[in-house]
Amino acid sequence: MSPKQWKPEDVSRLAHGFWASATLHAAVSTGLAARLAKKGPATAEELASELGLDPRATRILVIALHALELAVKRGEAYSLAPGLETLLDPDAPRSLNNMALHMADLMPVWAHLADSVRSGKPVERPEKTEDNGEPAGRAHFYRAMRDIARQQATGTAARLGLASGQSLLDLAGGPGVYGLTFADETPGLSATVFDLPGAQPYFQEEAARHARGAEVRFIAGDYQKNDLGGPYDVVWLSQVLHGEGPEECRKLIAKAASVLKSGGALWVQEFVVDTENPKHPWPALFSLNMLVNTTDGQGYTAADICGFMRDARFIGCVFDGPTREGSPAALVRGFKP
Ligand SMILES: C[S@@+](CC[C@H](N)C(=O)[O-])C[C@H]1O[C@@H](n2cnc3c(N)ncnc32)[C@H](O)[C@@H]1O
Repeated sequence: MSPKQWKPEDVSRLAHGFWASATLHAAVSTGLAARLAKKGPATAEELASELGLDPRATRILVIALHALELAVKRGEAYSLAPGLETLLDPDAPRSLNNMALHMADLMPVWAHLADSVRSGKPVERPEKTEDNGEPAGRAHFYRAMRDIARQQATGTAARLGLASGQSLLDLAGGPGVYGLTFADETPGLSATVFDLPGAQPYFQEEAARHARGAEVRFIAGDYQKNDLGGPYDVVWLSQVLHGEGPEECRKLIAKAASVLKSGGALWVQEFVVDTENPKHPWPALFSLNMLVNTTDGQGYTAADICGFMRDARFIGCVFDGPTREGSPAALVRGFKP
C-alpha cells in the first residue's frame, strides 16, 4: 500500500478534529442529547430552560450540532439525526451515551499527551470524587465498558466453542457483559465474573438485564492479590492486559493458567497492535490512551501476547483475528497443556 498523500485540508481536519468530538461531548454531558432522544424535538430556548443551560450558549451548540449533521432542524425545533435516538439515549440497549461521557472525561488528559511523551509518565490528575463518594468518572468508565462490550459480545460464545457443562471465568470482567452474554447464549454454562469491588454495582445493573443474570457469580477482588476461584474450563481475559506493563501481564497470564483445568483455553481480547500493516488506527491510538492514563500500560502485538502465554507454558497460541468483522478488537487464544 502506498503512503497516504496529504493535502492541506486533511491536516486541517485532523488538527481541529477535537472540536467536533467536544461538541458531541457537550451534547451528551449537558443531557441535551438524552433529552432529544427521549422526548423528541425542542427549540434551543426550550432545551436551555428544561436543562438549566445558558440560552445563548445552547443556541450556539444546537447550530453546531446541526452543522455536524448530529441534529435535524425543522422550523425552530431541533431533533437528533436518524439513528442517534437510540445511540445517544443512555437507556437504550445499544446506547453509546456513556462511551461518549467517558471520552469527554478523557479529553483533559489527552490534552497533555505531549507531556507524557516527554516524561514517559501518565498525565497527573487531581483526585476528585462524585457526590456519591465514588471516584470521578468511575460510573462513566464502567458503563462505557458496558456500552462497548454490548456491541461485541453477541455471538462470541459460539466463536469460543463454549458448551453446556463448562465453567468460564470472565477475568477482570467489569460490568460482566461478556460473562453474562456467554451464559445467556450457552445453557448449562457456569459463568463467574471477577473484578474489583467498585465494579460490582455495574455488574449487578447489567445482570438484571440478562436472562441468566441471577446465575452468574461475581467475585469481588484484586487479581494481583486474591484467589480467582476455579478451576475453570475457559478463562476470558478481555481488554485487561493493555492496562498493565509486560511483567504484570506475565504474572496475570500465569495466574490465569493456575486456575485453568488441563486442556483449558485462555482467550484474550485486546486492541491488538500491528506495527507493520495496521488495518485500523484504533489499537495504536488506544496505546496512547494507556500512555496518558496508566504507569506501565500499552497496546500489545499478537506476538507479545503469545510470548506472555508461552512464558506461562501455554501451547497452541494463535491470533484468531477481529472479534467481529471490521472491529479493532481481536482475539488471541492458547491452551493449558
Ligand atoms: C478496560 S476494562 C475491561 C472490562 C471487561 N473485561 C470488558 O472487556 O468489557 C478493565 C477491567 O479490569 C479491571 N481491573 C483492573 N485492575 C484490576 C485488578 N487489580 N483486579 C481486578 N480487576 C481489575 C477494571 O476494574 C476493569 O473492569
